[in-house]
Amino acid sequence: MTRVLIAGATGTNGRALTDELSKHDGIISRALVRDTASAEFGDGVEIVEGDLADLQSLAAAFDGVGKAYIVTSIQPNTIDLFQNFFRAAKSADVTHIVKFSGLGSDVNSPSEVIRQHGETDEALRETGLPFTILRPNSFYQNMLGQAQAIAENGTFALPLGDARQSLIDVRDIAEITATILTTDGHVGKAYDLTGPESLDFHDVAEILSDVRGAPVNYTPITPDQMEAALKEAGMPEWSAHALAEIQALFATGAYSDVLPDAERLLGRPPRSFRQFAEDHAELWISTGEASLN
Ligand SMILES: NC(=O)c1ccc[n+]([C@@H]2O[C@H](COP(=O)([O-])OP(=O)(O)OC[C@H]3O[C@@H](n4cnc5c(N)ncnc54)[C@H](OP(=O)(O)O)[C@@H]3O)[C@@H](O)[C@H]2O)c1
Repeated sequence: MTRVLIAGATGTNGRALTDELSKHDGIISRALVRDTASAEFGDGVEIVEGDLADLQSLAAAFDGVGKAYIVTSIQPNTIDLFQNFFRAAKSADVTHIVKFSGLGSDVNSPSEVIRQHGETDEALRETGLPFTILRPNSFYQNMLGQAQAIAENGTFALPLGDARQSLIDVRDIAEITATILTTDGHVGKAYDLTGPESLDFHDVAEILSDVRGAPVNYTPITPDQMEAALKEAGMPEWSAHALAEIQALFATGAYSDVLPDAERLLGRPPRSFRQFAEDHAELWISTGEASLN
């Protein structure tokens, strides 16, 4: 049996990965969580308490671990969090570490989030650990954050203008990650993960309208408007700015290419946006009571 430590296990991608790994014999998932009291996972998932900001807590979490995976939320100290995880992984002598990054990760990007990914990808390479880096485009699942506005008002607003993006489904990323952790040939690789099509958000609105059976309108706004709305909704200043900044980068159209890695690793085309919209059909038509997870 190989024990895989999963940092970020309570989040969108980490949880999808524990679900996916449960289908694989020979793997024990160990979820690293900050609050064990509120963490619930399926049968067979081990739960260990630890904080990426606390290097000492990670040493115990790595005890008996063969492989490791890390994703974390965007925050000002992300680089320190990754560095701690890499240090602990190095001490534990793991045989493979899979790091969640972002498409176009680059230390010179105009987006701080993408610069952080560039720096932490580089830091991982410098550890000498056997690694694989995942660089996905934006997730279909981000639209779940718009579900209430769509269900209640038939509208959503984003600062993406008419730009196209090759968005991807988190379920496909998780399936790919599980493959990487359970098959050979992925060490030293960085994979650029996109969906099967390049859509602008008018296209997204049209697909949602079809699935909802009622109109959905996309309203382009400016990054400043988005940042102000996020702050008003209580998001910390740094995060609101970082999110608006990365959206401004997407609005240039730089994230529109459909790339081959996801289809090659899945052995099938990645899920379409229509498939995602249909799988969550009840969310676009409900009155706000549905869960967004
Ligand atoms: N959204 C997109 O479209 C997109 C596209 C490409 C790449 N990305 C990248 O994907 C990442 C976010 O992925 P996600 O949406 O799956 O994340 P998420 O849902 O925001 O979850 C983040 C996870 O990180 C954990 N975490 C945060 N700080 C921690 C700490 N100090 N110690 C231990 N755990 C900690 C959280 O645990 P708690 O439950 O304790 O908070 C949670 O499990 C970011 O790096 C982002 O740049 C996003």
